[in-house]
Amino acid sequence: MNQKSKSSSSSSDHDSEPWLAPGVLAGSSAAAAAAAYAVISTRQSWRFRRQVLGIIPARFASSRFPGKPLVPILGKPMIQRTWERAKLAATLNKLVVATDDQKIAECCSAFGADVLMTSESCKNGTERCNEALQRLQRKFDIVVNIQGDEPLIEPEIIDGVVKALQASSSSSNFAAPDAVFSTAVTSLKPEDALDPNRVKCVVDTRGYAIYFSRGLIPYNKSGKVNLNFPYLLHLGIQSYDAKFLRKYPELSSTPLQEEEDLEQLKILEHGYKMKVIKVDHEAHGVDTPEDVDKIESLMRQKNLS
Ligand SMILES: *[C@@H]1O[C@H](CO)[C@@H](O)[C@H](O)[C@H]1NC(C)=O
Ligand SMILES: *[C@@H]1O[C@H](CO)[C@@H](O)[C@H](O)[C@H]1NC(C)=O
Repeated sequence: MNQKSKSSSSSSDHDSEPWLAPGVLAGSSAAAAAAAYAVISTRQSWRFRRQVLGIIPARFASSRFPGKPLVPILGKPMIQRTWERAKLAATLNKLVVATDDQKIAECCSAFGADVLMTSESCKNGTERCNEALQRLQRKFDIVVNIQGDEPLIEPEIIDGVVKALQASSSSSNFAAPDAVFSTAVTSLKPEDALDPNRVKCVVDTRGYAIYFSRGLIPYNKSGKVNLNFPYLLHLGIQSYDAKFLRKYPELSSTPLQEEEDLEQLKILEHGYKMKVIKVDHEAHGVDTPEDVDKIESLMRQKNLS
């Protein structure tokens, strides 16, 4: 049975998740979380964090690229391409576009997307996801933030980050119920090793994030890039435990986060666990108008339409 058919059978039984003990929320007790999970798993393993909401946050204003979500990529608006890919993800119970812009909303409704209007005061995608989550009447356990500027995102990656937060017997090597956040990495190309805009990640043997950096980590003793080392590049997809997402804006910023200007470090610095999955993915993020040409020629090459 896939996740979707399982999920539709019943709904709100998560009001008192034992692992969300205050100690765990304070980030102090992974052991307590693991113990709580042991209790959960004997009773209802596949039910853990079942209801999944996918959100594609989209804003019109962007200093580098105004109107970016609507830019046509081989004739189709970029946000539609992202949405069509996300629709194929098996783990999502609902998918919405969250935007503050009327043009984006109209465009998305026209191709059939569910649209949620969020306020213009949202400073970033995470806030937009949070507001969208609050506005929905239904209860969700996991929220996946799908960036609208990755039109070639594979649905399997979305499913991967979702499963990383779920505890199911069929995905036991993924399962990380003590993590409140999950994200994906792929192999870093040697030519990107020293680019501070490519964020690197190191993980422990169980796939939990240790650190993210704009610098090359780990740093080889020789001072040079080690062509034999499997460096990891962070991809811009993330999923949150919904209860954690609500608390997240209240977390104070932290020194490493500020120094690197990397939001995800705040989560680690506050002591939360983050699960990282490794995927095969060529990142084709669209940040500038020039990136559109690049992605279009790539799609022609690969015969994608
Ligand atoms: C550093 O990189 C080189 C290859 O460039 C490798 O042989 C070596 O094992 C790495 N580690 C150290 C500590 O030198
Ligand atoms: C988004 O903004 C909120 C509030 O200003 C802040 O707490 C949060 O850390 C920011 N998140 C990201 C991903 O930038």
